[in-house]
Amino acid sequence: MASLTVRQLDEKLKKLLRLRAARHGRSMEDEVRVILRQAAEEAGREALDLINPPNPPAQPAPRQARADAVVQKRVVLIIGGGIAAYKSLDLIRRLQERGARMRCILTAAGQQFVTPLAVGALTGQRTFTDLFDPQSEFDVGHIRLARDTDLLVVAPATADLLAKMAGGHADDLATAVLLATDRPILIAPAMNPRMWAAKATTRNLAQLSADGVRIVGPNAGEMAEHGEAGLGRMAEPLEIVAAVEGILRRGAALAGKRVIVTSGPTHEPIDPVRYIANRSSGKQGHAIAAAAAAAGADVVLVSGPVALPDPRGVAVVKVETAQQMAEAVATALPADAAIFAAAVADWRSDSTSASKIKKQPGHTPTLTLTENPDILSAVAHRTSGRPRLVIGFAAETDNVIANARAKRIKKGCDWIVANDVSAESGIMGGDMNTVHVVSASGVESWPPQGKDEVARTLIDRVAAALDGRKE
Ligand SMILES: Cc1cc2nc3c(=O)[nH]c(=O)nc-3n(C[C@H](O)[C@H](O)[C@H](O)COP(=O)(O)O)c2cc1C
Repeated sequence: MASLTVRQLDEKLKKLLRLRAARHGRSMEDEVRVILRQAAEEAGREALDLINPPNPPAQPAPRQARADAVVQKRVVLIIGGGIAAYKSLDLIRRLQERGARMRCILTAAGQQFVTPLAVGALTGQRTFTDLFDPQSEFDVGHIRLARDTDLLVVAPATADLLAKMAGGHADDLATAVLLATDRPILIAPAMNPRMWAAKATTRNLAQLSADGVRIVGPNAGEMAEHGEAGLGRMAEPLEIVAAVEGILRRGAALAGKRVIVTSGPTHEPIDPVRYIANRSSGKQGHAIAAAAAAAGADVVLVSGPVALPDPRGVAVVKVETAQQMAEAVATALPADAAIFAAAVADWRSDSTSASKIKKQPGHTPTLTLTENPDILSAVAHRTSGRPRLVIGFAAETDNVIANARAKRIKKGCDWIVANDVSAESGIMGGDMNTVHVVSASGVESWPPQGKDEVARTLIDRVAAALDGRKE
């Protein structure tokens, strides 16, 4: 099959694609994948429709609904020290037109490009500039600026601000607020193409993306600096508005809902230094917990031992063994949805030695195993207090879909998210995933995509199912 890259598309198509991607808060590449998947599904559905007449199709959110996502929402805009700061004045107006309640922070360098007076005149609010300003601290304070908001937007996000954010610095008002917040953050990078291509910037962006920060742009084109062109131009105000609408709309999808997620492996001790484990990294489960929190859910993440930071805005219960995980899940109930992404050990050693088992020449100890509690099955079969949606994961190496179908029925859960974890798939521990979602109504195979994207799509489906909507 011929390969296609976004770069090969003509400029007009690229622009349309960029706007669409920004609206959905996705990268352009992910947007292309979604379009292709929808087209493939459509082609498949048309074939099926010949056999079974379809239900009315689910309608995409109308434009008005997208715009309504911003009404009365509190947005803190941080303006960094780049030439694109002048566009942020337009961004303020565009967001206010849609009903956003704006507060702005200007960095010291940002004030070289736009004045606190101009920003304050547009917002009708004082502009915040100084971490050590007693008036601000008595008035709202940097912690309240960080908390009393629905979204933080950094535009322009300079190379310097990206580096500080990635490193967790907090030596001025902008970075202190960004570090202190548990709200979604959207950045619109803007810089010279060579700064954008610098290895340090690439590293910092990868870190920020892993931390759950959303990114819009930059675009390719002429820079404000005379004679400069390339990738690094800040996204246009309307593209940033579209990304804001996407985040805020998604941010309310699970508001008021409680979601339990399990993640990571379990460790089943043999003695104080040895244990039985598996290769689960927890990346998929943690991404799901983060996506559920970003969608406004009250999330409890029960995690086995992983080398991952706690996702933002999530209550994390750390456990080691399957038995501890089962107890933590029972304590965390009730919930609207429970998503069991952890790779729970099926067995544990039936005895655990209190002291290290000594190696003795000629003697190999025998390990007798006993079955661990089946957390998914126990929750799915609850007669009272069962979450409305119980989702299990199946890690399979053979007959992935057939095994997942059988597992869904045996466990009594609503959906099984099945993935092929054979060594060649690279899924265990990797950043990509290819999943098949098995439900009573059939199997949906999603294209290969990042675990974050799988998480966001799954959470969109969970929100639709809890809402009684057909997705
Ligand atoms: C004229 C001029 C234009 C600049 N434009 C940018 C820019 O577009 N992007 C960027 O990352 N830095 C730019 N810089 C450098 C930043 O202003 C500088 O790194 C500053 O420390 C950023 O501070 P801040 O991130 O706290 O706002 C520019 C500097 C000057 C003098």
